[in-house]
Amino acid sequence: MPITYEHIKTCKQTGARLGIVHTPHGSFETPIFMPVGTLATVKTMSPEELEEIGAKIILSNTYHLWLRPGEDIIQEAGGLHSFMNWDGAILTDSGGFQVFSLSDLRQIEEEGVHFRNHISGEKLFLSPEKAMHIQNALGSDIMMAFDECPPFPATHEYMKSSVERTSRWAERCLQAHQNPSKQGLFGIVQGGEYEDLRRLSAQDLTSLDFSGYAVGGLSVGEPKEVMNRVLEFTTPLLPHDKPRYLMGVGSPDSLIDGAIRGIDMFDCVLPTRIARNGTCMTSNGRLVVRNAKYARDFGPLDEKCDCHVCRNYSRAYIRHLVKSNETFGLRLTTYHNLYFLLKLMEQVREAIRNDRLGDFREEFFEQYGFNRP
Ligand code: GUN
Ligand code: ZN
Repeated sequence: MPITYEHIKTCKQTGARLGIVHTPHGSFETPIFMPVGTLATVKTMSPEELEEIGAKIILSNTYHLWLRPGEDIIQEAGGLHSFMNWDGAILTDSGGFQVFSLSDLRQIEEEGVHFRNHISGEKLFLSPEKAMHIQNALGSDIMMAFDECPPFPATHEYMKSSVERTSRWAERCLQAHQNPSKQGLFGIVQGGEYEDLRRLSAQDLTSLDFSGYAVGGLSVGEPKEVMNRVLEFTTPLLPHDKPRYLMGVGSPDSLIDGAIRGIDMFDCVLPTRIARNGTCMTSNGRLVVRNAKYARDFGPLDEKCDCHVCRNYSRAYIRHLVKSNETFGLRLTTYHNLYFLLKLMEQVREAIRNDRLGDFREEFFEQYGFNRP
């Protein structure tokens, strides 16, 4: 089995899990955050810098790499790890979500999805078999099943037929997987906000032999309470001896609240995307470094942060770079934001180790400002 989960302990205060996931490109402790490198690069970060901040696994996208440069070129380079010079673990999303969020004129059929490339207008088709073929060529450590991620809200009727199709697609993905000894494959539980459909989806998928399970279809515009409630009834339906991944979630509060509900892995473009418009995550909440009030602020982005950026560069300097559209400014804010989230997950793991994640959540929320009116 290329992907295994080793359980270390359960937090007595919250039920959060501390574990280790083993992959062909190294092992990492969970709960973990995965930086997003859609186009075989985490925007502005070199692999050396990713290693320096302690990233162990990054996410990349089947859909984007298929369109450009093409999976054949990456395979010829020796796979995605060698193509981009990243020796840590890589998870690739299947393209299911991207087809639904980025493309125009899609038509869903039993066989797969017809759609148009959102840039060139070219007609394209993606199916479970094709998504597996591409991910096999990329050589990611963890591949994702090809699923449908319906929007929020969707009717129960639509969601039910979608869940049933996603289950049939999941079986086809397992059948089509050409490299099961070296690459893991995760199933994706769908079902929206409906408890009976999450149960149906989890039952269908856990009856198949996936190496881990994702909770999909969240962070699609539903209120935070809905996400927490869905996780509360969904994670108990997943196997204890395999990793659980909450897709597309990366705000500090949701990472903590997801871990408390038994999630082990998270990914999101949030830290890197907001960094590129000059927004930084700090222990006192978000800081918009472009703001005029930082023009003469020679302190660090976050006094509590010990990252390379906070030890060497000031808010005033970073503000100047970001306002001048200097790429170095984007490198600095991205580096700090990723460091901040990786450090947060390290603190979450330490709190689980000490059976005090509930206390940590209170302290963190108070500081970050989530408890403020
Ligand atoms: N990324 C965020 N949510 C989802 C989802 O539901 N499915 C897939 N494939 N990717 C996602
Ligand atoms: Zn910092």
